[in-house]
Amino acid sequence: MRYGVIPTSPPEMIAAAFKKIPYPILDVLVGPIQAWALVVASGLGVLNSIATEQLTARELATRANCDEECLRLLLRVVRAMGYVALAGDRYRLTAKARRHFGPAAAEPYAAFARYGPPQWKMLERLASVVRSGRGVDFHNHQTAEEWRLYQAAMLENARGFGWFVAERMPVPSGASECIDIAGSHGYVSAALCRRHQGLKATVIERREALESARELATQAGHGDLVSFREGDLLVDSFGTDIDVALLCNILHHLSVESNRDVLRRVHTALKRGGTIGVFDIETPTARSRPEAAADALALYFRITSTSTCFQAEDYLKWLADAGFADRRVIRSVKLPSRMLITARKR
Ligand SMILES: C[S@@+](CC[C@H](N)C(=O)[O-])C[C@H]1O[C@@H](n2cnc3c(N)ncnc32)[C@H](O)[C@@H]1O
Repeated sequence: MRYGVIPTSPPEMIAAAFKKIPYPILDVLVGPIQAWALVVASGLGVLNSIATEQLTARELATRANCDEECLRLLLRVVRAMGYVALAGDRYRLTAKARRHFGPAAAEPYAAFARYGPPQWKMLERLASVVRSGRGVDFHNHQTAEEWRLYQAAMLENARGFGWFVAERMPVPSGASECIDIAGSHGYVSAALCRRHQGLKATVIERREALESARELATQAGHGDLVSFREGDLLVDSFGTDIDVALLCNILHHLSVESNRDVLRRVHTALKRGGTIGVFDIETPTARSRPEAAADALALYFRITSTSTCFQAEDYLKWLADAGFADRRVIRSVKLPSRMLITARKR
């Protein structure tokens, strides 16, 4: 994946050939402006309004109660990003945007957009993180409102990969107990329960997450498949006689030692034949070509938690050391840089 200032028209390509493009100026300004423009267009309800109707800037400005001239400028930026199209003087969402914004979005990201600014507050700490090597550990510093936005954003993120975990996760026959450790909204374990009759899930979550997580599960329609329990995955027991344990997008927040400890405790909690699934981002190897998304996320998790994403081999080794058999890495061409690692208790 590439992300950046990429000349597309002949004059831009000529300017690039003559080395006349001030890349640092554009890199410093364009990315943040585009990101803010998308967040604000979504937050003002502008993207929602043009999901189903084509509206002029004046109509949109009236509805959103904002300045028409500024709105036009904002919409030009969002058009350059490919989310909005203009036909005559009427704006509408593009097909890409309709998938992610508006009341009928198949894979909505409006909550993730709202959670953008709290994430940028963490990114502002990059220089001090690089100097000290210590991350922000945001789970210990979020306000109640940020927790609410975080959980809603995580549900949206989970819609994009939950199908993969549900399809590929091995589940012992007759399984009835699944634990979704740090499962937030419970979307992933609910998708698994839907595929395996008789399976019920328990999300184990931090206290701060529980209220929103329960509400989200009810709104999303899987409140009957998932229950919620307060717990600290760093220290608490995960119970006994568990058939399936999921750890999605959590181990990249923890140190190597904590991850090894969590996997040992999951092993203790599982029945013989019980299975574990770790779904996470796969960090690029030191020798692989730098890539915009995976490398940015590896740095992001270092900033936000003092840990980072790991490689498949790391998980495989920790699982082997914790006593797990049948260890497998499952990837999908539809989910670049993500992987599901599964294993079984003998
Ligand atoms: C990145 S989200 C992933 C949520 C969900 N598993 C998913 O993939 O969509 C990480 C979750 O871990 C939870 N979490 C973080 N530290 C935790 C801890 N010590 N104990 C339990 N849950 C924790 C957070 O509250 C958050 O909901």
